Amino acid sequence: MPLLTRMIGAPLHVDIGPGTVANAVFIGLFVDGLLAIDAVDSLSDSPLAVRIVLMLAGVLIRQFFVLRHRGQVRWGLPVSGVALLTALAIAIAPKMTATGGEKVAFSAVQGVIKERCVACHAAAPTQAGFAQPPKGVMLETSDQVAANAAKIAETVGNKYMPIGNLTQMTDGERALVATWYAQGAATR
Ligand code: HEC
Repeated sequence: MPLLTRMIGAPLHVDIGPGTVANAVFIGLFVDGLLAIDAVDSLSDSPLAVRIVLMLAGVLIRQFFVLRHRGQVRWGLPVSGVALLTALAIAIAPKMTATGGEKVAFSAVQGVIKERCVACHAAAPTQAGFAQPPKGVMLETSDQVAANAAKIAETVGNKYMPIGNLTQMTDGERALVATWYAQGAATR
């Protein structure tokens, strides 16, 4: 890996003895510490790739200290290590809900809920096959919506609701609900 060698400026420090053990322990703790962070932990897509990047960053940073101990100061090492970590953090950051934009009006959210949810989630559902509101969840009044706001955001966000998307909720409507919730789920 010529690129890596150029970045590091020297072959990786390998010797048998306490130094090797210290390296292994350092890198192990470093990686496990980072994996304990929620954002990293919640990334189930490519944990192996994440682990490799973390390990590489750990090696780069560790190599800086090893070389410095020998009187060589190579700032490129920790800088690349931190750059790798930053890139990783950006790559795996949970998708933010846009909360900076305009405030979502509750009337818009209520309109969506009326159209997509209330056929089932009403005291007297109009959806065929539903004699009662499923799980007792009714979403007809603003108070009922307020009481269920967290569950609404969760089930709409993970597409569990509307069940089977029977009422054909759009992604735009889901984003609207997510933004409304992120902005504080006001119901007036
Ligand atoms: C076609 C009927 C139907 C529609 C439309 C529907 N739901 Fe549901 N909903 C259900 C059923 C059935 C359950 C019970 C699911 C279960 O037992 O896990 C449920 C459960 C729920 C729950 C309770 C979940 C829990 O874990 O306690 C919430 C909250 C909910 N729905 C919200 C919504 C929202 C918000 C909408 C509209 C975006 C919606 N539902 C549209 C049928 C529907």
